[in-house]
Amino acid sequence: QAPPVRRICCIGAGYVGGPTCSVIALNCPDITVHIADINAARIAAWNSDPDPVTGELVNLPVYEPGLAEVVKKCRGRNLFFTTDIEKAIEEADLVFVSVNTPTKKSGMGKGFAADLHYVEASTRLIASVSSSSKIIVEKSTVPCRTAASMRTILEANARPGLHFDILSNPEFLAEGTAVQDLQNPDRVLIGSLKTKEGELAARRLKDVYAHWVPREKVYTTGLWSSELSKLAANALLAQRISSINAMAAICEATGADVQEVAHACGLDKRIGPNFLKASVGFGGSCFQKDILNLVYLSESLNLPQVADYWKQVITMNEYSKSRFAQKVVSTLFNTITAKKVAVLGFAFKKNTGDTRESAAISLCRYFRQENAFVAIYDPKVPEAQIWLDLTEPGVVDDTKQVKEQVTIHKSVQSACKDAEAVVIATEWDEFKTLDWEAIYASMKKPAFVFDGRAIVDPKKLRQVGFKVHTVGQGPEIVDPIWA
Ligand code: UDX
Ligand code: UDX
Ligand code: ADP
Repeated sequence: QAPPVRRICCIGAGYVGGPTCSVIALNCPDITVHIADINAARIAAWNSDPDPVTGELVNLPVYEPGLAEVVKKCRGRNLFFTTDIEKAIEEADLVFVSVNTPTKKSGMGKGFAADLHYVEASTRLIASVSSSSKIIVEKSTVPCRTAASMRTILEANARPGLHFDILSNPEFLAEGTAVQDLQNPDRVLIGSLKTKEGELAARRLKDVYAHWVPREKVYTTGLWSSELSKLAANALLAQRISSINAMAAICEATGADVQEVAHACGLDKRIGPNFLKASVGFGGSCFQKDILNLVYLSESLNLPQVADYWKQVITMNEYSKSRFAQKVVSTLFNTITAKKVAVLGFAFKKNTGDTRESAAISLCRYFRQENAFVAIYDPKVPEAQIWLDLTEPGVVDDTKQVKEQVTIHKSVQSACKDAEAVVIATEWDEFKTLDWEAIYASMKKPAFVFDGRAIVDPKKLRQVGFKVHTVGQGPEIVDPIWA
């Protein structure tokens, strides 16, 4: 009989730990959940007061549809946000490790391998403060064999007589739909050692999920399979986007329409319709990082052909972004120097304020290198974040130059005023229903729209007077400038 988990600690209150453990608290009123982080400002934001007028939690550090309601319901009941990491660990039966694992910027494996020092620091802390046995769950995406390293560190540093079980329980939520994905997951994957203790620990975690996830959706595997499946799933998803973006380039050169091609392919049940939307390029904290991890793993296993195969998915993504930027420059008569280019959307996808690896960052860099003035609007990304992303602190201090070239706007209309071109970088719903007549009237002529997400109707925009380029659509006979 597996004793039930009563107290959970989550180390790391970020995009993964915050939503995941809030949803666990929502569905498991009999479990007390403490989410702990070293970043005091972040914890303060999770604990921030509701708006005095609307009563809504508007200052949470992570924006996700539905998340504020979940936090509001559980906070102070069985969900607590704290900087007292030691206490939260010590009191827990089960600890999720949800700290960041960025790509290494220096040293061995630079540019490919994951920087595991936050994971290691958390593991050492668990070992040093624990006075009772616990289940430790790796939630952050980590390279294969991290669980084994964690076990070694725990065994070497823990007090005698204590026992730690390490589980891998990768998170498959997508940002922007995190709460929905957590409430109704396609599957929950739990990897454990194939020992009696390992399987018992997996069963105890399964019982936590069973509060709201049908048991048949919880899939248990070995540790290695679980760790590799997370990398594999993200690599396969990203590969589909690079594949369709490669088709988009062919479409633009021939007159085919990538949306028709994607639809036609997706009707085949073996292929399926999802994740075939051509775009300016994929972003987000996971896809690139996980593929780089896979490439590094393949190389270290002496499998260079496998490494090259997956590397190509990233090469194609870089090409998608540069090809799109190039299209803007060549269409604006081969120069955008001193021209104002409005960039609509800065987040890596809609319904999130997250900008990690966002294609918009790359586009803005290209436009800046061409000496354009860039006017940015995004409904959710804080202004300070945009400056941070465009200035690369620590590399070269180009803050002054960036501020001369870039402006950040509070409305689409303001970003587009006097612009020569509008570039849609993120598929925010509000961009589907803009007052394009008013935007056209305020822009320089000829006025161009470059739709990197294929969300606006090019025919309607052409009627307004715009010259329109949609990613993956070939030249239109009705618009001779593209012929
Ligand atoms: C294929 C397409 O499926 C079909 O739609 C098209 O019209 C013609 O080409 P076919 O080549 O007859 O059909 O068979 P398919 O079932 O696609 O298998 C092709 C090869 O892939 C076979 O050697 C098969 O064994 C292999 N395969 C298929 C795998 O190795 N793994 C799989 O998961 C599926
Ligand atoms: C991804 C995985 O989907 C999730 O399972 C994993 O746990 C974390 O990584 P996320 O990065 O949050 O989630 O978002 P996702 O919806 O996968 O989008 C990633 C990027 O691909 C975005 O920039 C998105 O705009 C782009 N994308 C997605 C496309 O360009 N075309 C598509 O068809 C789908
Ligand atoms: P993810 O998308 O993986 O959730 P984030 O960067 O959003 O990544 O969140 C990771 C969080 O983990 C950050 O808030 C960071 O402060 C926190 N963190 C990193 N190392 C530690 C640590 N040793 N102890 C507690 N929290 C940590």
